[in-house]
Amino acid sequence: MFSKRLFGILLPVLSINFVTASPTRSTCFGPIHWEECQDNAPGSTIQCASYRVPLDYARPEIGSATIALTRVPSPMTPRLGTIFQFQGGPGGSGTQLVKEIASGVARLADGLYDVVGWDPRGINQTSPKLTCGFQSLEEQQGFFNGTIINDGIEAHGNFTDESDLHRFFSTLNQTDSILRRFGQKCIEDNGSFLKYLGTTAVVRDIVSMADCLEGPDNPINYYGISYGTVIGTYLVNMFPKRVGRVVIDGVVDAVTWATEPTYKETIHFPLGFLNNRVILAVIHDADVALKGFTDLCAQAGPANCSFATPGATGASLFQDIGDLIDTAYDRHKAGLSTLSAIDVRAVIYSTLSNPTTWDQVLVPSLISIRNSLTNQSTTNITDIMSMKKALTLAKLMQTRPSTIDPSLQAALAIGVIPCLDSIDQGNVTTKQVYDEMVRITQTISPFFGEVIGTPLTLLFNCHLFPVRAVERFTGPFNAKLENPILVIGNKGDPKTPFQNAKKIADMLGPSAGLLEQDGFGHTSLAEVSECTLGVIATYLVTGQLPESGQVCSVSQTLFPPNGLPLAAAS
Ligand SMILES: *[C@@H]1O[C@H](CO)[C@@H](O)[C@H](O)[C@H]1NC(C)=O
Ligand SMILES: *[C@@H]1O[C@H](CO)[C@@H](O)[C@H](O)[C@H]1NC(C)=O
Ligand SMILES: *[C@@H]1O[C@H](CO)[C@@H](O)[C@H](O)[C@H]1NC(C)=O
Ligand SMILES: *[C@@H]1O[C@H](CO)[C@@H](O)[C@H](O)[C@H]1NC(C)=O
Ligand SMILES: *[C@@H]1O[C@H](CO)[C@@H](O)[C@H](O)[C@H]1NC(C)=O
Ligand SMILES: *[C@@H]1O[C@H](CO)[C@@H](O)[C@H](O)[C@H]1NC(C)=O
Ligand SMILES: *[C@@H]1O[C@H](CO)[C@@H](O)[C@H](O)[C@H]1NC(C)=O
Ligand SMILES: *[C@@H]1O[C@H](CO)[C@@H](O)[C@H](O)[C@H]1NC(C)=O
Ligand SMILES: *[C@@H]1O[C@H](CO)[C@@H](O)[C@H](O)[C@H]1NC(C)=O
Repeated sequence: MFSKRLFGILLPVLSINFVTASPTRSTCFGPIHWEECQDNAPGSTIQCASYRVPLDYARPEIGSATIALTRVPSPMTPRLGTIFQFQGGPGGSGTQLVKEIASGVARLADGLYDVVGWDPRGINQTSPKLTCGFQSLEEQQGFFNGTIINDGIEAHGNFTDESDLHRFFSTLNQTDSILRRFGQKCIEDNGSFLKYLGTTAVVRDIVSMADCLEGPDNPINYYGISYGTVIGTYLVNMFPKRVGRVVIDGVVDAVTWATEPTYKETIHFPLGFLNNRVILAVIHDADVALKGFTDLCAQAGPANCSFATPGATGASLFQDIGDLIDTAYDRHKAGLSTLSAIDVRAVIYSTLSNPTTWDQVLVPSLISIRNSLTNQSTTNITDIMSMKKALTLAKLMQTRPSTIDPSLQAALAIGVIPCLDSIDQGNVTTKQVYDEMVRITQTISPFFGEVIGTPLTLLFNCHLFPVRAVERFTGPFNAKLENPILVIGNKGDPKTPFQNAKKIADMLGPSAGLLEQDGFGHTSLAEVSECTLGVIATYLVTGQLPESGQVCSVSQTLFPPNGLPLAAAS
């Protein structure tokens, strides 16, 4: 994607130095020994290491965790340092991420940095592991089977129908009790360890690793997307003097995350739902992203977007999708179809994050759904099967850029880490949480509130979760930074709305530069924008921020796709 020409222009300014912090005491417990990873493909230069850190930095005698790391080493001399890279979850695996896309980030910065990923406490190859007493993901799914946490909310329209509301509220006691049992199960099994997990400890781990790899007086560079932006926001506010180049993209509202009862978060993560795949979600702009799809599809017309009917407009297609959801609801209720409204909502929602899959996945799924619902016969099983297949494909394709680790730890982390990070919220009731879900669905996301309003959705279960982390960062979030950071948001992001990016950047004032990408999907990487990639590359190499108010358009067309691979950054 990036021509040598671009980097030719950037290279001469390399002599610009970081503003460095005053001498600090090292928290390195190393050294960190790198070796070639055992599962490397031939020719791969990726290195692996493990590194022991104290469970509690304030009381190192308590015990230790062993963190797994991977690194793409810079081939350059001199190099600019290390970039720590982390993405989604909580529960995503940073070691896997490096294997998948670090070479992209490395190349984006013209090979001038080592790129390091790691598995956070509790996750993947880092030990000890978070298990909450489950042996497998299937067992964890079985635990929530038959509850609304697993099944989601089946509702007509925007959840104003009295009988739907009544049915929903009738599950309240069951939900309350299963969430309490879940919390108990976590403590019984991992009680003594749980309180040392969480984002604040993860930030201290980054500083500790940086102290080993670059020394305690050198700046820390970080590139985080999705949940990784919570880590990034904590990092720059906890250690403002250590900040080097930091990019956060697809921003979660870390202020609300750290300081409000979690059910007020604009993020909800259904756990166990949708074939028990965990979805990380923020609802605010989900309907905006759907509108983006219907507008682009209508513009392309039936020849280039086969869900469009002749003469359809974006508004009429949007309406059609609402009608499909209601038809699915009616036919399911009448016993004519196994396909329920929540299935349709979930299929659509799961693809909104990745516009590059709209042509191959969302369009055929919608056509299958339409075919199976519009004919006054019983549902065509072949269609449903093809839809389910499409959904599987969507999941596969979602592995980039928003990989969510399918392992048990990953599924658990999404329901546990936000609770550990959260303020105490002992007086919040499940009734309040339910009321909030109804409000969100009725007023903010009529299409998808039901999908992401499912309450073990960590952010909805934390009021009943019995443990909090020993150290929880709660701000302030307006640090003054010598090296300002780059904050990126996508206009129609169904999981992390642009307003979050703006909020975090505004709080940092002159210590942050904000870039908006005029596109759809989750994080700026969801669509290729040469402009955005250029801004990131320039920032990583020179520290230069985009102009105030800069908006980048995308370089990608979706109907028909112009073939730009998502991996253009790699
Ligand atoms: C780590 O994550 C990868 C990718 O999601 C997965 O294939 C692997 O099984 C996980 N390993 C462990 C030990 O959890
Ligand atoms: C959930 O319950 C249903 C009905 O009781 C059963 O058929 C299914 O196997 C269960 N699923 C899991 C994952 O336990
Ligand atoms: C839920 O539990 C409360 C308190 O135990 C009780 O008053 C209420 O009737 C229960 N509601 C349902 C629907 O079972
Ligand atoms: C959590 O519990 C599991 C299962 O009992 C165990 O394997 C794991 O080591 C425990 N983790 C910690 C940190 O105690
Ligand atoms: C479909 O897209 C192609 C490529 O952009 C374009 O040439 C063609 O005119 C479009 N077809 C219609 C009917 O708009
Ligand atoms: C429903 O009708 C449409 C158009 O008449 C047809 O293309 C489609 O195959 C039918 N689907 C089913 C399930 O019968
Ligand atoms: C069901 O759908 C499949 C695939 O769309 C189609 O080939 C088949 O003809 C449909 N069956 C009926 C009975 O309409
Ligand atoms: C919980 O209690 C605190 C202190 O009494 C109060 O400020 C807060 O508003 C309460 N929260 C809820 C959700 O009722
Ligand atoms: C929700 O549905 C009601 C009843 O159909 C309607 O009056 C209201 O405008 C809808 N609200 C939204 C945000 O769509």
